[in-house]
Amino acid sequence: MCGIVGYVGMRSAQQVLLDGLEKLEYRGYDSAGVALTQRDGIRVVKSKGRLSTLRSKLEELALPQSGCGIGHTRWATHGEPSETNAHPHCTDDKSVVLVHNGIIENYQELKAKLLRSGYTFYSQTDTEVAVKLVDYYYKKTGTPLEAISRAMLRIRGSYAFGVIFKDYPGKLFAARKDSPLIIGKSENGSLIASDVPAILDQTRRVYYIGNLEIAELSRDEIHFYNIDREEIEKDVVEIQWDAAAAEKGGYEHFMLKEIHEQPKAVQDTIGAYVKEGHIDFSETGLTDEKLASLKRIYIIACGSAYHVGMVGKYVIESMAKIPVEVDVASEFRYRDPILVADSMVVIISQSGETADSLAALRLAKDRNVPVLSVVNVVGSSIARESDYTLYTYAGPEISVATTKAYSTQLIAMYLLAIQSAFVQGKLEEGKVTRLLAEMETLPDKISRVLDDKERIQWFASKYANAHDIFFIGRGIDYAISMEGSLKMKEISYIHSEAYAAGELKHGTISLVEDGTLVIGVMTQKDLFEKTLSNMVEVKSRGAYLMGLTSYGNYSIEDTADFSVYVPKTEKYFTTSLAIVPLQLMGYYVSVAK
Ligand code: M6R
Repeated sequence: MCGIVGYVGMRSAQQVLLDGLEKLEYRGYDSAGVALTQRDGIRVVKSKGRLSTLRSKLEELALPQSGCGIGHTRWATHGEPSETNAHPHCTDDKSVVLVHNGIIENYQELKAKLLRSGYTFYSQTDTEVAVKLVDYYYKKTGTPLEAISRAMLRIRGSYAFGVIFKDYPGKLFAARKDSPLIIGKSENGSLIASDVPAILDQTRRVYYIGNLEIAELSRDEIHFYNIDREEIEKDVVEIQWDAAAAEKGGYEHFMLKEIHEQPKAVQDTIGAYVKEGHIDFSETGLTDEKLASLKRIYIIACGSAYHVGMVGKYVIESMAKIPVEVDVASEFRYRDPILVADSMVVIISQSGETADSLAALRLAKDRNVPVLSVVNVVGSSIARESDYTLYTYAGPEISVATTKAYSTQLIAMYLLAIQSAFVQGKLEEGKVTRLLAEMETLPDKISRVLDDKERIQWFASKYANAHDIFFIGRGIDYAISMEGSLKMKEISYIHSEAYAAGELKHGTISLVEDGTLVIGVMTQKDLFEKTLSNMVEVKSRGAYLMGLTSYGNYSIEDTADFSVYVPKTEKYFTTSLAIVPLQLMGYYVSVAK
């Protein structure tokens, strides 16, 4: 995932950029580069591989101190990882230099136009097209602002840009559409960044630049413009994260740290909405009248957040008897969905910036369907554009493999289910009280699961060389399997699939052979025997079985080769506990590899 940092001010831009990019290293990258304004023009320095290589290169060059520059870490999308494809990209005379996150969808068409106008291209990237398009309009108009806005009108896709011009050595420009970017103001200068950790050492005072907006930064001033170049006012926002949130705090990786932060994240999210034994959604804007009127709910999200949506469907339908459809955002937005009256769309997103989820939100709003977003990042695009926002209180999630945000999103689903069921007369008050009391025990129970991590670490280390891992379950356990499998493949790079346990025998079982690890998730009492019989089926093909269930279901040991138990809880809440061993499995298998 690419990272952007830009700075103009009294400090050494080179230092600020390298420190900022280092803070974004956790997102992964394959090359890095910076552009620094110098007395005689702009100097671009790039390297393939680690940031330390770029740092050494810059040390060797010993450039005179610069007060303005842009930097980037690149994760290849258009073209292989190489110095040529690395950002910043620039015009041949280095008069315009640009870094970019996002994807320019019509870059081929724009490139063809620019080739006809005499431009030459050296890289395979869409970003080189962007910088040359800005240059094309700069040559026509002579002003950076107009050049950038006219380029923005031509570009389709998503972007966060940082741009510097040789003719404006003390200025830094930024623009965005559907790709995250924040603008910061510190004591000694102004900054841009694609993510908060990059500038947290410098400042907590930020502005959120909106879609199709441009920012013009100098050492002491920041101005914002819309695409018509009319100036717009923005309020500064104080970032609430404490600096420790962006550090590993003694853990080997952010993922492990965040797995351990789950009890607190869950507690904080419950605490924000459960007041004196009642659910209080006033902070979200969502009223009981609205919830009482709902005849259908559409939950839309991507990846892990979509898996939360699957759990949401089971829980809301079971408790509130409201039909729920769950869709991945990239499907929903392109399939002309039917949205009925008295319905609500729920968008789940940690970052609040995921492009497909944002597009799904806009589609719902175009159809006059109200949108509730479940979002972790305060002030993000999805939060801003929703009718109601239920913030999760996971704190900053640095690990790209989500854990604690996922856990807090589950809490949001339970709360939504309980309150909808209550106001629709499907749950009586006593049951609500009992459910909320049980929910409040989840943080302690998650801590108990974490206390057992060494056993999982030992088991995981034996599977570092696995080629395939299957996760099976039914109902809510299937949704848990989906997330367990995603965690496994995302970070260990081991092929893994999640199957509805009853579906495996319809073809896919042929992939299960001697020694294939199959993890059966069996937290639901009424489905336990059913899934167990599927475990027996795969065992007859030689599978090695890990069973995951609640304490007390010890009969699993007659079938499974290795068993993991989590504390008992309400059937609706089992995901919150059962997911933790699977997160640890994914993490420890990866570490062992
Ligand atoms: O920020 P979002 O929740 O919208 O991100 C959606 C997915 O990209 C995300 O959940 C992804 O699947 C996880 N990071 C995987 O661990």
